[in-house]
Amino acid sequence: FAADLGEYRHFMLKEIFEQPQSVAATLEGRLAADHVLPCLHGVSDALERLAQVDEVQIIACGTSYHAGLVGRYWIEANTDIPCQVEVASEYRYRRQPPRKNLLFVTISQSGETADTLAALEKIKENHGSLATLTICNVAESSLIRESDLALMTVAGPEIGVASTKAFTTQLVALQLLMVLLMQAKGADAGKIAKIVDDLRKLPALIEQALDLNATIEKLAEHFIEKHHALFLGRGELYPIAMEGALKLKEISYIHAEAYPAGELKHGPLALVDSEMPIVTVAPNTALLEKLKSNLEEVRSRGGVLYVFADREAHIQEADNLHVLEMPHVPELLAPIVYTLPLQLLSYHVAVQKGTDVDKPRNLAKSVTVE
Ligand code: G6P
Repeated sequence: FAADLGEYRHFMLKEIFEQPQSVAATLEGRLAADHVLPCLHGVSDALERLAQVDEVQIIACGTSYHAGLVGRYWIEANTDIPCQVEVASEYRYRRQPPRKNLLFVTISQSGETADTLAALEKIKENHGSLATLTICNVAESSLIRESDLALMTVAGPEIGVASTKAFTTQLVALQLLMVLLMQAKGADAGKIAKIVDDLRKLPALIEQALDLNATIEKLAEHFIEKHHALFLGRGELYPIAMEGALKLKEISYIHAEAYPAGELKHGPLALVDSEMPIVTVAPNTALLEKLKSNLEEVRSRGGVLYVFADREAHIQEADNLHVLEMPHVPELLAPIVYTLPLQLLSYHVAVQKGTDVDKPRNLAKSVTVE
């Protein structure tokens, strides 16, 4: 990964376009024909410890926290291990009841975020865990030093303050961790082989999602005069809607909020009018039909929808309903692939608004003080 801008205008755009390579690099050497190879560094009995895990607690901040939220959907859908996720700044100041055979996972691009480090110290000082594991992008970081186990993301250096390629490689690492847990717990071999097969397709699917760049650049014009935006998703796409809203806030300074689409009727519908664009991620998952009826609720109240949808989802363009076709993706990989258009949308809105894309006001790349 070259450290200069090359042909790109901003590091953020360069890093968005590096994702086919960074995802491939994070998978490199870790997949066998039908299973995931042991790819954890640290204590030598890592796999034995994974076999004993009864619970997972994930801790992170910012974009890394959103990766953790997706990880919970994946781990609980594919293993019998309960998984909790919390932002580090809350977890560190809260009493924690002792837990049995806990795998304590921190996720961090930098490995230096003060709250995440403090949460790790807290679990070590209090009742401890079966193992502490960090998913991290910087090999010589404090989190790596302080954890029993490390699962490295291979995103290369990330310069833009708004995290992009670090996030998608964290999601890849969470897929690897999920499969390692499945293997340690004796899950169905056919199911594991299918996931490994799908993971191999990921870099090419990301390339296809990037083909939407020019279309999204035009679409961004619809957002530059807006003051608010709503992002909707369901299931494991809800954290992706959260990440899309965070990106838009961070670099374009437009207030954006994410909602799980099923919660619309409990409040946000009151805000819907033609002045608030509503961005939705709609892969062809089990919840698609439910999501479609949520979209109708919005449209019948005059809301303007921008829907990133699987080309097999059969969502038709209509008045106030803009459909952007995405490649068909295996359900488990949808959160990763659907992140790309939301990154591009926030990037182009910010560029057209003329903000400092790589260094948004008041924000730091790595927050090493409380
Ligand atoms: C800062 C950055 C975010 C990042 C968060 C957590 O707020 O601006 O992009 O997601 O810290 O950082 P970490 O290095 O722990 O992933």
